[in-house]
Amino acid sequence: MKGKFITFEGSEGSGKSTQIALLHKYLKRKGKSIVFIREPGATNIGEKIRQVLLDVKSAGMNDICETFLYMAARAQLVEEVIRPALAQGKIVLCDRFLDSTSVYQGYGNGVDLKLIESMGKAATQGVNPDITFFFDLDAGKGLSRLKRKKDRIERRSLAYHRRVRAGYQALAKKDPERIKLIAVDGSIEEIHGRVVGYIDQLLKIQNSKH
Ligand code: TMP
Repeated sequence: MKGKFITFEGSEGSGKSTQIALLHKYLKRKGKSIVFIREPGATNIGEKIRQVLLDVKSAGMNDICETFLYMAARAQLVEEVIRPALAQGKIVLCDRFLDSTSVYQGYGNGVDLKLIESMGKAATQGVNPDITFFFDLDAGKGLSRLKRKKDRIERRSLAYHRRVRAGYQALAKKDPERIKLIAVDGSIEEIHGRVVGYIDQLLKIQNSKH
C-alpha cells in the first residue's frame, strides 16, 4: 500500500474529533491528498449500521451481535474506501478503527480478545494503521464534557468507561511503536503540536509551521 493510514482513538469527550479535524486542516495546508472518515460509518451501509448501533432503542443488544455489527461496518469501509485510497497513495484519516472494538467490546463488555482479533483480520483484510493516536483522559472528566444527548454506548456506566480507558492504556503499552498515547492535559494547540510532531516524522514533512 502506497498511502498512509492514520487512526484516532480515545474515550468519550477526549477531544479526539477536534484533534482529527485540526490534523485534517494541517495536512490540507501541506497539499496532501486526504480521505477523512469515521467509524462506524462513512459508507451507505456503514452509516445504517451506525444508526442501529448507537440508537438508544437498540437497548438489549447482545454483546456478540454488537461486535459483529462494528466489524460489519468496518469490513465494508475497508473494502469500499480504505484499501482503494491507500492503493492510490492517499492519506487516510480515520476517527476510530479496530482498537475501538478491542477496548469497547473486549475490555468493556468482556468479549474474548482473541475472537475480536480473528474477526478483525477478516474485517480489515490485514490493513493496519501506520500510526494511532490515543487521547488519554480520566473517564469521568471525559463524560462530563459531553454536551449533547448521550448515545447508547455513551450512556454506559462510569465503570464501563473506566475499563475502556484501561483497555486503551494496555494496548498502548503493548504496541508503543504504533500507538502514541497523548495525554489530554494541555491546550488544544499544544496537543495538536504533539500530534503534528509525530505526523511530520511519519510523512517526512520538513520545516513545519502550523
Ligand atoms: P464516536 O462517538 O466516536 O463517533 O463513536 C461511536 C461510538 O461507538 C463510541 O461510543 C464508541 C463506540 N464504538 C465501539 O463501541 N466499538 C467500535 O468498534 C467503534 C468503532 C466504536
